[in-house]
Amino acid sequence: MSPPQPTATSPRFFVLNGPNLNLLGTREPSVYGHDDLAALDARCHACAERLGMTVECRQSNHEGVLVDWIHEAGRRAAGLVLNAAAYTHTSVALRDALAAVDLPAIEVHLSNIHAREPFRHRSMIAPCTIGTIAGFGPLGYELALTALVERLQATAGAPPAGAPSPRSPSHPNPSDG
Ligand code: DQA
Repeated sequence: MSPPQPTATSPRFFVLNGPNLNLLGTREPSVYGHDDLAALDARCHACAERLGMTVECRQSNHEGVLVDWIHEAGRRAAGLVLNAAAYTHTSVALRDALAAVDLPAIEVHLSNIHAREPFRHRSMIAPCTIGTIAGFGPLGYELALTALVERLQATAGAPPAGAPSPRSPSHPNPSDG
């Protein structure tokens, strides 16, 4: 069966990347790999298309901008993939923003934060997410998008991914625009 095609009512997910991730490709490639942010975004878009959904990918180095985008995701998206980068370990503001919106969110890290410096082991945002994926590089974003789709289908009572029935947009975006 051919994969579902995104439509105007396909679930929209946000992928938000935090500080210094605009430097992917040149930033510590032994830790973060050689793919740049454009390649990561392209991978997310291709994955979203395969899953029959749409995705908006954004990056900011500024905490308040990320807070605003989480609020926007709460109004316009059905789910959120968040790599808050260094703010993961420090930001009460991001944690509060996630707690304030009624949105399934998954925390992603390219590197395995638990195998790195102790200050990276603590996540301020993890309690406000449905799960964390760390250490799989860009694949982690695809895993997170896939998990969000499964979560939406489970909450909508639809069959899980891979089931024979066609996947319908059972959880349209809260609002358009
Ligand atoms: C990161 C891990 C963080 O500890 C770090 O500050 C980052 C990137 C990751 O994707 O592995 O900037 O979130």
